[in-house]
Amino acid sequence: MPTARPGTRRGGCGKRRDLLCFFDVLRHRRFFFFSRVLPRFVFSRFSNAARQAAERARRAHISPQISRARLTVSVARTRHPSPHARPQKRITDQNPSVIILSGGPNSVHVEGAPTVPEGFFDHCQAHSIPVLGICYGMQLLVQRLGGQVEAADKAEYGRMPVHTVNDSLLFKGEPGTSQQVWMSHGDEATRLPEGFACVGKSDAGAVVAIEDPARKLFGLQYHPEVTHSERGFETIKRFLFDIAGLTAGWSMQNVLDEQIAVVKETVGPDAHVICALSGGVDSAVAATLVHRAIGDRLHCCFVDNGLLRFEEQTRVMKMFKDHLHLPVTCIDDSARLLAKLKGVTDPEKKRKTIGAQFIEVFKEYKVDVEKKTGVRPTFLVQGTLYPDVIESCPPPGSDQKHSHTIKSHHNVGGLPKELGFELVEPLRMLFKDEVRKLGLLMDVPKQFISRHPFPGPGLAVRVLGDVCAEGALDTIRAVDEIYINAIREAGLYDQIWQAFAVFLPIKSVGVQGDQRTHSHVVGLRAITSSDGMTADWFQFEPKFLQEVSAKICNQVKNVNRVVYDITSKPPSTVEWE
Ligand code: XMP
Repeated sequence: MPTARPGTRRGGCGKRRDLLCFFDVLRHRRFFFFSRVLPRFVFSRFSNAARQAAERARRAHISPQISRARLTVSVARTRHPSPHARPQKRITDQNPSVIILSGGPNSVHVEGAPTVPEGFFDHCQAHSIPVLGICYGMQLLVQRLGGQVEAADKAEYGRMPVHTVNDSLLFKGEPGTSQQVWMSHGDEATRLPEGFACVGKSDAGAVVAIEDPARKLFGLQYHPEVTHSERGFETIKRFLFDIAGLTAGWSMQNVLDEQIAVVKETVGPDAHVICALSGGVDSAVAATLVHRAIGDRLHCCFVDNGLLRFEEQTRVMKMFKDHLHLPVTCIDDSARLLAKLKGVTDPEKKRKTIGAQFIEVFKEYKVDVEKKTGVRPTFLVQGTLYPDVIESCPPPGSDQKHSHTIKSHHNVGGLPKELGFELVEPLRMLFKDEVRKLGLLMDVPKQFISRHPFPGPGLAVRVLGDVCAEGALDTIRAVDEIYINAIREAGLYDQIWQAFAVFLPIKSVGVQGDQRTHSHVVGLRAITSSDGMTADWFQFEPKFLQEVSAKICNQVKNVNRVVYDITSKPPSTVEWE
């Protein structure tokens, strides 16, 4: 198979490249995710759950034993008339060692729901390929093998305990017979196909784990791939290593070497590349990697779009200079962007406006670099991560032409062709914690590595409503600064994945200095997560919250009420907009 260029794409959403990249990953690991409908899977993106499961597999250092299989991914990249067409060919061509049927939002009862092709299970059995169905994947497995799946009396969402049979293959050697897992389903298996045993149940009695050791078929109703499933990773490892017999060996150093090679090959010996540094870990790591690959043909800029945190421009520029040792141009675009955002309250419109302006700035910067170097830069580095890609793309099998957009992450998709840049996205297949590991490997300073993520649209997604509303940005900057400093002083910064303040466009009545006030409400959010895909709220000591709330109300004019966000993701997202 020719070397894929996982970190780059030319226009569109890079479907084929995703695929190649993914299969490249798979090839090395002899690991194949069968995601929902086979034809769609082949040419569209993977489901969120599949990608997360992939990431767990990477953490398990699945072996780079190179498959001798011919990985001619027969990309029936299309509008395939039927999901049953030529199924075996794809599977045999890819010669997987294991198959995971991923979770997804569908119900097996809905017409047109993703399914497996005829003969799929027979093929797996004949070739001794272990199959694990997760959530929807398990329901599909049950239904297609003659069991029954019905709508549950009560849907189960979020974290909950399950009880497991520990002399089963899936749970062998577990330290206890119950564990907390992350559940998200409306259907459940009510009758198992012949040969299957139930090896796990929820508190409510729903079947949550099944196995047929003779046929090497397994199912988990919950999501072992999310970090909030207490021992989910152990279960995935048991499936990959003990059951499927894969061996470990893949590492972050492979990713680094591979990506440096990809960037060199993609950019070639002469082209110039530009990169916008945000001050966060992703762009810093992406730029460092690209700098290693092509040296001073990389030109970096830092755009102050007026939506940065307290004194961020000064602090970040100092960090670049003192620690990253990359030449960075600072562009102050705040006045122009804020003028465009004035009066805009719709969250998507805000994001789109910011995205469009971001592109304008790039065009201008490109001209500047050309004037300076005499060479027109043709590549743009972006620190796009896996979760950005997932959440900006339609779920496969959803029948949506476009993304069921949760949020338009402005660094994914939507870049107009006339921009004339090819994208270099060396982190596109990685999750945040993997990016941090990659950064540490390249000696990126801890200041960058440990910084909480900050979204591209900045404070615009933390000021609900009009960001230009009087005092909103100043207020939120002041509140955020107090809150983050308090977190640092309490030694909690590194325990929290992301913490920030939110400005609410409402006022409430208070009493301050014996006087009635009618002032703003601000929200505080702190979450734990490992990838931003799922998150739980951080449980501060009440004393911490009490002190920080008092400080905020005492020190920030116009705030008389502080609320703390106690919602996980899902159902909420991390950012409020
Ligand atoms: P949500 O709010 O989607 O956030 O649950 C998940 C993670 O992504 C960050 N985020 C963004 N990052 N551009 C970015 O670069 C964006 O438009 C964007 N929106 C959200 C968010 O801060 C969290 O870490």
